[in-house]
Amino acid sequence: MKTFQEYLELVNQAIANIPYPAEPSQLYEPIAYHMALGGKRVRPVLTLMACDAMGGETAKAIDAAVGLEMFHNFTLLHDDVMDNADVRRGKTTVHRRWNDNTAILSGDTMLTIATQYIARCACWPIMDLFNKTAIEIYEGQQWDMDYEYRNDVTVEEYINMIRLKTSVLLGCALKTGALVANADEDQADLLYQAGVNMGLAFQLRDDVLDVWGDPKTFGKEIGGDIMNNKKTILLINTMQLAQGDDANELRHWLNDPFSSREDKVAGVTALYERLGVRQLAEDAITHYNDLALAAFSQVKMSDDDKQAFIALSNRLAGRVF
Ligand code: IPE
Ligand code: IPE
Ligand code: MG
Ligand code: MG
Ligand code: MG
Repeated sequence: MKTFQEYLELVNQAIANIPYPAEPSQLYEPIAYHMALGGKRVRPVLTLMACDAMGGETAKAIDAAVGLEMFHNFTLLHDDVMDNADVRRGKTTVHRRWNDNTAILSGDTMLTIATQYIARCACWPIMDLFNKTAIEIYEGQQWDMDYEYRNDVTVEEYINMIRLKTSVLLGCALKTGALVANADEDQADLLYQAGVNMGLAFQLRDDVLDVWGDPKTFGKEIGGDIMNNKKTILLINTMQLAQGDDANELRHWLNDPFSSREDKVAGVTALYERLGVRQLAEDAITHYNDLALAAFSQVKMSDDDKQAFIALSNRLAGRVF
């Protein structure tokens, strides 16, 4: 198994080699812009790691890895329209730098380019998994938006929503690498399970960082979820725990369209801190990360490989890179 950095270099090289037509520039420039912004490249690295761990050849997994990263970037272009986000990876989002129509159409093109790269594997189970995962992500994104307007969302519904919008893609990335390596189905499925649990911890951490992260390393504006009344585990627990004045204040922040961003983010963050909901989110992160580590430990691979996955899962749960 190579180091994360070594896989990252392979991925970045392959992404830099993607050919984009020059015209229409309004279609392709935003794609090149977004793909060059970097990001953690977690999904393609997971694909390469899983392929190696299952005894496959890394070179054979590169197309699938690039396809999954392109797909992920497509979801971000559309997600930033849906979430009205100005900043991504520390830079202006595509829909702000250009406009919503550009984000829609360049995003559509990225989805198709992604599919072309996945198809190069000429492997029906990989294509099938990719398409199934894509539809699950759209379902998760729809629940995420529906929940902005509901005040009775449960933690169980939230977990299912983040499983769909985020976690299944990490599971898919690992299973795809295993399929490229012709791994046994039970091993590929164990890696998928590990990826889903890792993804739950990862999205829970994203929701925590959306409130308390450092914008320099987080790369996004703090408080976006609060502004959109996103039903994160923090808000759901706050809605369940707030009593009296706290409950009235929360109702005000959720329903007053005229409060400034600064006031609303500070007000809701103070409520979260008063009610101690961050700890509940941290407990959930630990729970799902532990499930991911247990699944990785069961996969038939070398101890070194297990340690590499375990280290990565811990880093993702803590988002320490
Ligand atoms: C952002 O994904 C969307 C979520 C699922 C939280 P990443 O945090 O992997 O974003 P990049 O690719 O590193 O920018
Ligand atoms: C993103 O969830 C999930 C997908 C893009 C499919 P978020 O909306 O929390 O992601 P960020 O915080 O904008 O990266
Ligand atoms: Mg979103
Ligand atoms: Mg978003
Ligand atoms: Mg987020």
